[in-house]
Amino acid sequence: MESQSQLFSEHQPVLAETLAGIVAIPEGGVIVDATIGYGGHSRILGKSLGLSGTILGLDVDPACLEKAQKVLSDLPCRVILERENFSNLSRVMARTGVGKADLILADLGWCSGQLDDPKRGFSFQHNLPLDMRLDDRLTITAADWVNQAEEKELADAIFEFGEERASRRIARAIIEHRRGQKITTTAQLANLVYRVLGRGGKIHPATKTFQALRIVVNDELGCLGRLLEAAPGLLKPAGRIAIISFHSLEDRRVKQDFQRKRLEGIYEILTDKPMVPQEAEIRINPRARSAKMRMAARLP
Ligand SMILES: C[S@@+](CC[C@H](N)C(=O)[O-])C[C@H]1O[C@@H](n2cnc3c(N)ncnc32)[C@H](O)[C@@H]1O
Repeated sequence: MESQSQLFSEHQPVLAETLAGIVAIPEGGVIVDATIGYGGHSRILGKSLGLSGTILGLDVDPACLEKAQKVLSDLPCRVILERENFSNLSRVMARTGVGKADLILADLGWCSGQLDDPKRGFSFQHNLPLDMRLDDRLTITAADWVNQAEEKELADAIFEFGEERASRRIARAIIEHRRGQKITTTAQLANLVYRVLGRGGKIHPATKTFQALRIVVNDELGCLGRLLEAAPGLLKPAGRIAIISFHSLEDRRVKQDFQRKRLEGIYEILTDKPMVPQEAEIRINPRARSAKMRMAARLP
């Protein structure tokens, strides 16, 4: 039998024990893991479901689904894994006939293995194609977008999704660079931003620009918005929604959605302040540092 750290050596599920400590899904219950990844959260939460329970797991990355399949193979409950974007959750739940959920969980962003995979074009360390698609069925890569977008569109996106104050200067430099040569690799873009901003602080100066591109290419905030919109109709009465986010743009959207639905009598908010990892978890898994989890329950 593999230990938990061996099982989750490629991606430690963030705030998983915290979540398991506050939600116990009853035997026969339904867990919808909208971002199954390597199956870490579902494996921990799914233990209480028994033979009659169900886990429905979604991911856009087939490599994740393969890993999750293995990680979840010895759970007694039914496990249904679908290569789907969570913005289509209503349709997937209707098609698979799982019924309403006791828990909808979304652990946003990328698994450690995906971030470390140089082929994804997210790393500044490797000079590789500027791709950034989580789902390789998407037709527009980060390179396509950066070479096609107008200057204002570039500046607005880098400002809004990267929260980068120098967005206009970066957009100008991209346009000037494009006049001579297309931007096709991560290093070209990282160096261009470096030249505009000069040496940064603790993080690479291109970090915010890369975040913006990733959000645009994968329509990350649009997908989150559609998931949040659909969730109340997919939960049982008292069913819970838990969202783990890694940057303030996502967290703000979740917070505002829960607050709006509380006023409309749809949700009870279970986390007035977002839950964050303890020091001990961050020591083992530094990527947990920026995680915030918010949870709400569907009112009857
Ligand atoms: C942080 S990881 C989840 C890790 C997982 N909770 C675990 O314990 O292994 C996020 C996962 O969500 C997937 N993902 C991101 N956006 C998605 C979307 N819109 N629809 C479906 N899957 C998505 C990514 O491919 C990635 O595998």
